Amino acid sequence: MARHLITSALPYINGIKHLGNMVGSMLPADVYSRYLRQRGHDVLYICATDEHGTPAELAAKERGLPVAEFCAQAHDAQKAVYDGFELAFDHFGRSSSQENVEITQHFARKLNENGFIEERAIRQVYSPADGRFLPDRYVEGTCPHCGYDKARGDQCENCTRVLDPTDLLNPRSAISGSTELEVRETKHLFLLQSKLQHEVEAWVTAHEDQWPQLSSSIARKWLTEGLHDRAITRDLDWGVPVPADTWPELAAEGKVFYVWFDAPIEYLGSTKEWADQDPANRDWKSWWWEADDTVRYTEFMAKDNVPFHTVMFPATQLGVREPWKKVDVVKAFNWLTYYGGKFSTSQKRGVFTDQALEILPADYWRYFLIANAPESDDSSFTWEHFTATVNKDLADTLGNFVNRVLSFSKKRFGEEVPAGAEAGEAEAKLGEQIAGLLAEYETQMEALQFRKAAAALRALWSAGNSYLEEKAPWLEIKTDKDGAALTLRTAMNLIHLYAIVSEPFIPASSRAMRQAFELADDTAAWVSAEEARALAFLPVGTPFTVPPVLFAKLTDDDLAAYKERFGGE
Ligand code: 2FM
Ligand code: ZN
Repeated sequence: MARHLITSALPYINGIKHLGNMVGSMLPADVYSRYLRQRGHDVLYICATDEHGTPAELAAKERGLPVAEFCAQAHDAQKAVYDGFELAFDHFGRSSSQENVEITQHFARKLNENGFIEERAIRQVYSPADGRFLPDRYVEGTCPHCGYDKARGDQCENCTRVLDPTDLLNPRSAISGSTELEVRETKHLFLLQSKLQHEVEAWVTAHEDQWPQLSSSIARKWLTEGLHDRAITRDLDWGVPVPADTWPELAAEGKVFYVWFDAPIEYLGSTKEWADQDPANRDWKSWWWEADDTVRYTEFMAKDNVPFHTVMFPATQLGVREPWKKVDVVKAFNWLTYYGGKFSTSQKRGVFTDQALEILPADYWRYFLIANAPESDDSSFTWEHFTATVNKDLADTLGNFVNRVLSFSKKRFGEEVPAGAEAGEAEAKLGEQIAGLLAEYETQMEALQFRKAAAALRALWSAGNSYLEEKAPWLEIKTDKDGAALTLRTAMNLIHLYAIVSEPFIPASSRAMRQAFELADDTAAWVSAEEARALAFLPVGTPFTVPPVLFAKLTDDDLAAYKERFGGE
């Protein structure tokens, strides 16, 4: 048994996320956490809403709400969707928490004591029409690198380059649209990342062999470009305040930390929020402080977040000069596209997570998304692919198997697991096959290869179908009743195995499969190779019920309706 700390990139508070966000961070983290828990590990899965920065202020403004109120509501709205997806966080916190404020300020003080923070006067975009400095997304304009004309002051959405508002060509205020912008001087805190370049490089070198290639290649690209000193404060009303004990002048001016400074610190903050809910039994520091030998820390994120997690946050952690746990594995994802184009929150293109749940239960999405996760490359969501996958894998291969076996057995042998013949050659062969596929599933899951793990799961489901076709109990029963009972009993044991091993992917359907059997000891604990080979979980005589159809088959009319509502092509 090991201790596993798992985090997924913190979703921005500014709106409900789309399926692309879900598949690139929270969902695989949940699948992995569930798997590890079933295997008996001590798992802590932490996430939170990322609440600071201009996106929050702009979204609150659009809704006409004070930003604190907007964030509280938006946090609850996101949490409700994640509950609907059955994301089993140990804690889903908020980066605006008091815990995060304290830890962020502590990190800043330490970085300062260690000579990694400097106060510098900079020239910044000021909008007389708005009466304020315009940081980050408050300025929009044309990207100097790729020419995209809706680039934001912090990053170009098109070419993903990190920008400074003064880099933009033809800048305009995102608040008023004013183009009468000036550049004025003001003081900010700078994190001297350049001084940490060599340490970060050494740290990456020591760890990258555990990361997927996507993560290490992005980290390397950033290191090659060189770590630059970066302003870590902003002129905003909403954020972690610069601590007055250390920087009285900046604090008096109301400066707050830049959202990308406090967001990753919220991984710690959220863990402390979790512990503060039950201080007698929870120790947040045991996960983060001097924990390197006992805790394995895996982070999940989409590729645009990789520089922050492989280079910038480690630089912060190294500069603090305290033994905070650093990431072991950075699992990164490419983009899920919508018919080959971008899913876009701002342009409302694609399928949002709340809409997805209005259409179909979470398991349909969970399975499809993980089976098609953009791991080695971008992958494209189409309604055609989605409905075909649901029908083939979930409705036919799994759902129909469960229903056919239990209904037929009920009809011929009543509502208990039938006795019949002893297991023979076909069952031994099946057991070997199942044990082999299970080992493959475990290997892929442990390697964080989600598509391949899903393929192994699908192969486990298919093996049951092949066995059933081969033994054909509906014919067997005419000549060999005991043999037919053996076939059905074996198939029922497969259903129980499916209930357990499918749980990380489709928890609700797994519960339905598990609860079909009235077992005294009903746990979802993992299956050993011997158990997979023996396929004898269910004592003869165990009562069962036929659950309602697990997965509805999607029709051509459904497909047409989805495309009509969301657009296709
Ligand atoms: O890219 C994003 O959506 C950010 N909100 C991710 C933050 S991850 C972490 F560092 F907090
Ligand atoms: Zn660009």
